[in-house]
Amino acid sequence: MGCLFCSFVDEKKSPKTKKVNNINKDQDQSHQSTDKSKMAPPGEIKKDNARESDETSVANDCDDASKAENNQDSNKSKARTFTFAQMVSATQNFKAGYFLGEGGFGKVYKGILEDSDQVVAIKQLDPDGGQGMREFVVEVLTLSMADHPNLVKLIGYCAEAEQRLLVYEYMPLGSLEDHLQGLHPNRKRLDWNARMKIAAGAARGLAYLHDQMNPPVIYRDLKCSNILLDEDYHAKLSDFGLAKVGPIGDNTHVSTRVMGTYGYCAPDYAMTGQLTFKSDIYSFGVVLLELITGRRAIDNTKAAAEQNLVSWARPLFKDRKKFPQMADPVLEGEYPVRGLYQALAIAAMCLQEQPNMRPLVADIVTALNYLASQIYDPLTRRAQSPLRKGSSRTRSRSKSIDVKNPDEGEG
Ligand SMILES: Nc1ncnc2c1ncn2[C@@H]1O[C@H](COP(=O)(O)OP(=O)(O)OP(=O)(O)O)[C@@H](O)[C@H]1O
Ligand SMILES: [Mg+2]
Repeated sequence: MGCLFCSFVDEKKSPKTKKVNNINKDQDQSHQSTDKSKMAPPGEIKKDNARESDETSVANDCDDASKAENNQDSNKSKARTFTFAQMVSATQNFKAGYFLGEGGFGKVYKGILEDSDQVVAIKQLDPDGGQGMREFVVEVLTLSMADHPNLVKLIGYCAEAEQRLLVYEYMPLGSLEDHLQGLHPNRKRLDWNARMKIAAGAARGLAYLHDQMNPPVIYRDLKCSNILLDEDYHAKLSDFGLAKVGPIGDNTHVSTRVMGTYGYCAPDYAMTGQLTFKSDIYSFGVVLLELITGRRAIDNTKAAAEQNLVSWARPLFKDRKKFPQMADPVLEGEYPVRGLYQALAIAAMCLQEQPNMRPLVADIVTALNYLASQIYDPLTRRAQSPLRKGSSRTRSRSKSIDVKNPDEGEG
């Protein structure tokens, strides 16, 4: 089967995308970025080397991905192709009322496919900028190979003349960012149980990319706006345009231009351009911290010392007595104290400066599945596993993340 990526590979010479953007130009702006900024954080990035090896790895990605496509189960759903006319019809000509949101690459609309009445989300890449074409191809390729309940499904795409559109399953509860930042005032606030469920779901999606895909994939764009929510707060990762095939053989990292979103980017990756699976673990730590605190990764509306969430949290991580200060005030104290400690401990481990000190995704999944299984009841102010009510002492099976049983007392 022809590789979709190869047919677009010349696009890598097109202007850099909004996500990569302007490593040189933006370096001096890095402290004033917003949550939507896609710039490189500061650091002595080995620009020339990084760029060269990035372009090499693009070709490698293509090759590896083609091999991987053959390796994956043949029953995986393949992306459909749509005509632009079908996209126009599904969105009633991109009607304002169908508008769902806008990101770095274009606008997203709700749509209804004419032939099946299926409700979908359609992302139309900005046709003027000539940007994001490489991401379009990587997105189609990655999602065509992937199949997991915690990854958003790609239904198809449209590549007609200048138009590039991606058609996804529709996620009725929108993004985690929308919920945490209260962008939909009519929606109920996220309670502790929903937050842990979302964290565990996102971790399982990441574990699939790291441990089950062949070849394994580094996501590179884990953030709250890319975690979409299905009914009942079932989390799915979306936006794989920055995904990279992970290091192969004895290699420990992939050299790339620094790409991602400021505030989520691991410091080691930002400084060296050396991308590892542990870069994703750092970003996961930022997301988990946002879930616990309700704060944004970067918030320019706050006082200088509180604008960067991780910098704000680091001194607090050292003193358990300060942990309750970190809980989202929106929760109004309705969380299990031990659960809060445990979740913060996981976030702190993910955010270690040294990448090799960060946990493996499989251990994060085990720990968060456990925390999500402990349903907090605001009436009794206790967290309990529905299956293990009455049990006295249990421990998670996690090896490197030791999560103790909240039944030992809520403090
Ligand atoms: N499959 C989907 N179902 C429902 N809503 C979606 C879907 N995909 C995206 N959206 C909505 O569209 C918004 C914009 O998404 P988009 O991925 O374009 O931007 P972003 O995640 O904010 O930024 P970035 O371009 O960096 O990923 C999301 O925040 C979400 O509210
Ligand atoms: Mg997104």
